[in-house]
Amino acid sequence: MATVGSAVGLGNIWRFPYQAGENGGGAFLLTYALAVLLIGIPAMVAEFIVGRESHLNAVGAFKKIAPKKAWGGIGYLGVFTGFMIDCYYCVVTGWTLYYLFLAASDNLLGLSVDQYSIMFSTYSSGVFPPIFALVSVILITGVIVSLGVQKGIETASKIMMPLLFLLLLALAVNSCLLEDSQTGLEFLFIPNWSEFTIDTILSAIGQAFFSLSLGMACLVTYSSYFTDDVNLIGTASKISVIDMGVAVLAGVIIFPAVFTFGMEPEQGPGLVFKVLPNVFSQMPLGYLWSLLFYALLFLAALTSFISITEVVVAYISEAFKISRVKSVILTGLTFTLLGSVCSLSFGPLSGFTIAGKNIFDSLDYLATNILLPLGGILTSIFVGWRLDKKVIEKQLNIKGKKGAAFLKVYIFFLRYIVPASVTCVLVTGLLS
Ligand code: PHE
Repeated sequence: MATVGSAVGLGNIWRFPYQAGENGGGAFLLTYALAVLLIGIPAMVAEFIVGRESHLNAVGAFKKIAPKKAWGGIGYLGVFTGFMIDCYYCVVTGWTLYYLFLAASDNLLGLSVDQYSIMFSTYSSGVFPPIFALVSVILITGVIVSLGVQKGIETASKIMMPLLFLLLLALAVNSCLLEDSQTGLEFLFIPNWSEFTIDTILSAIGQAFFSLSLGMACLVTYSSYFTDDVNLIGTASKISVIDMGVAVLAGVIIFPAVFTFGMEPEQGPGLVFKVLPNVFSQMPLGYLWSLLFYALLFLAALTSFISITEVVVAYISEAFKISRVKSVILTGLTFTLLGSVCSLSFGPLSGFTIAGKNIFDSLDYLATNILLPLGGILTSIFVGWRLDKKVIEKQLNIKGKKGAAFLKVYIFFLRYIVPASVTCVLVTGLLS
């Protein structure tokens, strides 16, 4: 459940809908689903194998299995990617905290569609309010991470995740009853290939990695705590299905509303923040629904933020031989600084762009579409080529003829399918 807590977060509810909105809806969903099945699940199992075999964190795990070899680089790459994601993840988690505050203080409902768009743009482009929110997020996370309360996260996830799922289900039914729901559902489920490019595939692969918490050795750390009776393939499949289910539910909630309220699906990172208040405004008991939704969204974002931060904090405290608390303070201060720069890239720093993208979008693109897939390729190559087959056999608990055939197919995926397909898309996407 803690691993589900890491996977299910802003990636599903905030990132999936706006990526689908920008990349043609149904075609993106289909590509993303294929990426989860063919690349995500094998890569997740590979991270689990490394984690449970070594019982160590990101950097230590690779070093232990392949001592004195450059493979430890996968761990360093993971720490670096996590560091980058943290810099902007805290900004969006801050937005959810602000909306939770608006919902709780009853200042969210009853505005018009345009007013909600202006409200988000004014807020996110401001200076102090979004920075105040992100600093609060960093402080809360800092306290939790320095206490090292893994058990607390597991317990919280056990209660929260099913509740979030039920809530999303109810909101999805509500959205399906909206006036123009059919257009929204068609947008999400019927592929329109006219805008399909290599960049759509790259974004779908990146989304799969981001949403499944893959490619930065985060799940290596989580699975280092798995006991021997945990079935790795079953667990990876379950997590992936739940994670994809949550993303699809978010899409079913958002797109019918987008079309009913006459909005555009291509709104970028602000999409769910602009659309959802309209939905709550027209629901009976809107105050309660919105309060519950933003509370759960904030907690889901927080558990994912914690999981990324854990990788960075654990590494810093080991590498510099400083206490956990000192490491938390150091990383917290750095995230405050860099997170503020990301936040300001929606306002005063919006003129500063790289290839037409502001700082926030550039970091997200680099981390999600390039570094996470790269981490995934390297981990697959490591497990497929470097790791002893017997270790894989033992970790996957493989027996009999059928098992041997399965192992062959799995190793073939790790050796060829995952690295070749992701490299192809990555290189073509970057050159195009
Ligand atoms: N999977 C998390 C989400 O969907 C984000 C994340 C990425 C967490 C990478 C850990 C590692 O929000």
